[in-house]
Amino acid sequence: MTMASPPNRSAHRAFPADFAFGAATAAYQIEGAVTEHGRTASIWDTFSHTPGKVVGGDTGDIAVDHYHRFREDVRMMGELGLTSYRFSLAWPRIQPTGCGPAVERGLDFYRDLVDELLAHGITPVATLYHWDLPQELESAGGWPHRDTAYRFAEYAALAAEALGDRVGTWTTLNEPWCSAFLGYGSGVHAPGRTDPADALKAAHHLNLGHGLAVGALRAALPASAQLAVSLNLHAIRPLSQHPDDLEAARRIEAVGNRIFTGPMFKGRYDDDLLGDTAHIVKWDELVHDGDLAEISRPIDLLGLNYYNPTVVSSAENAKDLPRHDGHGDSPHSPWPGAEDVAFHHANEDLTAMGWPIDPTGLSDSLTALHREFGLPLLVTENGAAFEDVVGADGSVHDPERIRYIEGHLSAIADAIDAGADVRGYYLWSLMDNFEWAYGYGKRFGMVHVDYDTLVRTPKSSACWYSQVIRRGRLA
Ligand code: FCB
Repeated sequence: MTMASPPNRSAHRAFPADFAFGAATAAYQIEGAVTEHGRTASIWDTFSHTPGKVVGGDTGDIAVDHYHRFREDVRMMGELGLTSYRFSLAWPRIQPTGCGPAVERGLDFYRDLVDELLAHGITPVATLYHWDLPQELESAGGWPHRDTAYRFAEYAALAAEALGDRVGTWTTLNEPWCSAFLGYGSGVHAPGRTDPADALKAAHHLNLGHGLAVGALRAALPASAQLAVSLNLHAIRPLSQHPDDLEAARRIEAVGNRIFTGPMFKGRYDDDLLGDTAHIVKWDELVHDGDLAEISRPIDLLGLNYYNPTVVSSAENAKDLPRHDGHGDSPHSPWPGAEDVAFHHANEDLTAMGWPIDPTGLSDSLTALHREFGLPLLVTENGAAFEDVVGADGSVHDPERIRYIEGHLSAIADAIDAGADVRGYYLWSLMDNFEWAYGYGKRFGMVHVDYDTLVRTPKSSACWYSQVIRRGRLA
């Protein structure tokens, strides 16, 4: 997707009657209880306990203690009127060493969570992998190692057998770009490795794991099951129409987006991607016969995670401009084969993450994905961190977050008007939580969490979102 078109604004702001208004979380960011009931370390436990990796030395040891407070959290979701909730399953809670039989106590937590959701009329959407690879699998080679894909499919089958009677919608991977290129390329995410060849190998094995897991899920789940993947496809915009900037956009689109959508939806890695990275990895050894057929097994929904557009140029054309890649400080590039591309802010209207606010990237992406792949779409993540201020009465008034969500819901309505089949929106996040390498300092929740008492307090954005849900439309 190379983005250029202006937004297609319209006054029609109602959503389809069965549109899912949800919120999203991920296991390591909220659960805590990292050693309870047989759970062992994931790569994020190891990484967060390594000095210097996470701001302030924060870890997910306690997080927001959702493991013990899930009933309270689901009741709160019910009060807010959420119609759906996207959460992830912690692989090391279900299959601690990454192979062998499932731990029933681990599965029980998710059975109870899902039962509680269903009792409140909230549709569960389960993500199998939101970055918490069992440490033992990383010690055996991690995602650059082919066997990890097979281990993932085995875990997917265990999860589906246990929860398939209760969970109808499944997403395999969350943002495999981050797992591969931040985890093994720039090293700002777990496991913190910095080898471009390993990053590309990880990307292929994540793709393979996705495909194998789709096969395992189809075998274990009822025919009605809806299978998806959540990709953070970059809404790429060249800084100018200069051929060098268009070339920068092409390279980033190849290694940022098409490296996943190519094999998953077209059964191929594009020649330009293979060419850009041929000096880094031997693709003909990496991709085995039959892999592409496996990876391109049909799925039912495409999940898009969108936060901001990605503006790029050639290094030469960026000489005199400030550059921002928004992926943390690392001397190692997360862009193999495109290391010298320069990144820019789309504007200076920034969230607390330093991410520009521009909802047109969302409408453009949704319409482009609809046109290219024709699949029903879900926005499986979108949201913003701001410097929330807690009032004397404990309340948090967060008009910037309301404006952010309203702008992005409106962009979704634009995409629906333009013909895209968008079935739902999952706000990131239900509540403040462990924001990976940034620790607890960045608050994305519509519900405030006091990290001393773990008390949850809906911010004004939660009240606003709740009204939108009840009306089924923006004002
Ligand atoms: C996404 C992650 C999610 C959260 C948001 C802010 O990349 O999937 O866990 O950290 O960013």
